Amino acid sequence: MTHKGTVTLETERLILRRFSPDDADAMFRNWASDPEVTKFLMWSAHTDVNESRRIATLWSEQYSSLNIYQWAIVPKSVGEPIGSISVVHGDDKAKSVHIGYCIGKAWWGNGYTPEALTRLVRFFFEEVGVNRIESRHDPRNPNSGKVMQKAGMRYEGVLRQSDWNNQGICDAAYYAILAEDYFTPKTQDKPAGYIQQIRAKIGHDPIIMTGSAVFVYRVGKILLQRRADNGNWSKPGGAMELGESLEDTARRELFEESGLTANSLELLGMTSGAEETHVYPNGDKVFNVTAHYLCTDFTGEPCENDNETTQTVWFDVDNLPEPVSETFRRHYENLFLPRVKNL
Ligand SMILES: CC(C)(COP(=O)(O)OP(=O)(O)OC[C@H]1O[C@@H](n2cnc3c(N)ncnc32)[C@H](O)[C@@H]1OP(=O)(O)O)[C@@H](O)C(=O)NCCC(=O)NCCS
Repeated sequence: MTHKGTVTLETERLILRRFSPDDADAMFRNWASDPEVTKFLMWSAHTDVNESRRIATLWSEQYSSLNIYQWAIVPKSVGEPIGSISVVHGDDKAKSVHIGYCIGKAWWGNGYTPEALTRLVRFFFEEVGVNRIESRHDPRNPNSGKVMQKAGMRYEGVLRQSDWNNQGICDAAYYAILAEDYFTPKTQDKPAGYIQQIRAKIGHDPIIMTGSAVFVYRVGKILLQRRADNGNWSKPGGAMELGESLEDTARRELFEESGLTANSLELLGMTSGAEETHVYPNGDKVFNVTAHYLCTDFTGEPCENDNETTQTVWFDVDNLPEPVSETFRRHYENLFLPRVKNL
């Protein structure tokens, strides 16, 4: 574990940066003075801007310590802090961090906190080298649990009357994501497929991998899944098994990964070539040849049907979540968007 301190992080819509004393007015105005924001928190709403100034100044003075993680959440479209996200407790021996967050009510429901937390998950696993990222919430504040789920954390359980906040003693619902959830493909429940059989013979050498992927579309929304291996949002898909047609592969992968049964599939196009190279976290390198399908007619309710996926969410087609791979973005822009414009 290598502490990096509160370095500036960026997402599509947010800058996560250090606080300065100059942020006191925005802190007071945007969230810290609102008792609705602090209802389930451990500190009381500020009644005077000087309280916010004292806190912003205190935090600013702590940044020289590399194990202090206290970010201001600044939407690019707002240009000033609307909330904070921080490590409220860290344990170097357990290689774990416990994250807390809050944002002003005017910005609730825009997905800003999950976007910030998702970026922190990436930062702490990929740059700091933690093993566990956890968070907790009062079960009477379920919106906070949704933030944790959206960032790929898994529900672990409730510790009864173990905690307190401005409502008094309370239960604490715990969520966490482990390094192995984030980095390791969870394929152990499946019988060894064609690719695993090939890999057993040739190790990590580059191979050409044929497969199919499915864009699932429903009235202005695209169904995306969070991959357990690298945390990216992507569409259902995977490698062809012996004896399958490309369409068979698409149907099987869609069902295995999302629980949906395709009633019909439309071929959007094929991709191949040098830019379709992919290197898995374990070093396996593949050159993908992929058939991309559109599915607008399906049966079932989307869910996380296997261990390769941590979340399944409908997103507006023109508002992709973060992070997605460059390859996914290319397929989405070149194959999916031009087709759904006409639907
Ligand atoms: C909990 C909190 C961090 C959520 O952040 P956010 O950026 O609004 O997160 P999201 O946009 O993903 O919204 C989460 C859920 O809250 C719901 N929500 C959003 N705005 C809401 C509102 N004004 N009233 C009620 N629910 C609302 C959304 O519907 C969403 O659920 P969905 O994904 O099923 O639609 C934010 O509400 C907050 O700062 N609350 C006060 C501080 C706090 O409770 N911190 C967590 C302590 S554990």
